[in-house]
Amino acid sequence: MLGPVILAASRSDAMRRIVSAAPVTKPVVKRFIAGETVQETLPVIESMADRGLEVTLDVLGEDVTDPAEALRARDAYLQLIEAVKPLGLAECAEMSVKLSSFGQALPGGHDLALKNVAPVVEAAAEIGTTVTLDMEDHTTVDSTLAIHAELRERFPQTGAVVQSYLFRTEEDCRRLAAAGSRVRLVKGAYKESATVAYQDKHEVDKAYVRCLKILMEGSGYPMIGSHDPRIVAITQELARQAGRKLDEYEFQMLYGIREGEQHRLAAEGHRMRVYIAYGTDWYGYFMRRLAERPANLAFFMRSLISR
Ligand code: FDA
Repeated sequence: MLGPVILAASRSDAMRRIVSAAPVTKPVVKRFIAGETVQETLPVIESMADRGLEVTLDVLGEDVTDPAEALRARDAYLQLIEAVKPLGLAECAEMSVKLSSFGQALPGGHDLALKNVAPVVEAAAEIGTTVTLDMEDHTTVDSTLAIHAELRERFPQTGAVVQSYLFRTEEDCRRLAAAGSRVRLVKGAYKESATVAYQDKHEVDKAYVRCLKILMEGSGYPMIGSHDPRIVAITQELARQAGRKLDEYEFQMLYGIREGEQHRLAAEGHRMRVYIAYGTDWYGYFMRRLAERPANLAFFMRSLISR
């Protein structure tokens, strides 16, 4: 019941100020955020790589309100790519970007976001890695998939994300499951209405499995973004049925969530990629993690009480 309330709060500036100012917030945020700067985050990436985990890196930020901020987002990714280059980890460190931080919601935002993100995708390709376009609320899906298609003309490895809670997603999966595509399937983390999305968790899970089946039976590269043990088990079974080898799909989980499971899957020989978010603009990302799971919220509340 609290999930939708927290998701609504994730877009409220007043709540942002209250939560951000609370002295207890930062230690809890640290559970989900690898650091505030690139320098703090690089050792985390190296230690993951040492333990056989791959990563996708997100410079926190979303919903920018002026073009200068969008340029700063672009530059932050370019700096990140420069910082990752000497580590020699390009093969296991890709980038995840939110187009709203590249200006997608501004007037002329579609073209602006494409113009701003293209140099990031190009710089990533130059060091031998890729970029995946995170998916945000449903009003952005057409624009994000169109930008994805345009980027793929020059950079075919560019990844897309689809959300099983949206009614449209099975159809999107059918279109995206083609050779050479990289598609991350998630359940969806935004507050969406009953006109566009399943509201019942069970329906979202069933839709996830239908989408997963389409991606597994297709000829692209499915990326399974979920911490759900049933989804992990179903993925393994569907991959077996589709005759996919272990390197023909991958699991993805968020930093700070089910770490034991991340290591278990990697030790079994699966490709396991951890989504690492870093930066100072953590509010929206953090609130979505609280909304996803009562235990995350309880963890936050306990730390309030135990101080
Ligand atoms: P869900 O929340 O449905 O929980 C199912 C079960 O998983 C639980 O019952 C429990 O067993 C287990 N579980 C879940 N969380 C746990 C925890 N913290 N500790 C222990 N067990 C836990 N969303 C979006 O809209 N756009 C995007 O671009 C992305 N990108 C993205 C990348 C990656 C790598 C991931 C993993 C997720 C996203 N998401 C996302 C978020 C996604 O949409 C979704 O909100 C969360 O992954 C939560 O859904 P799950 O499938 O993980 O489990």
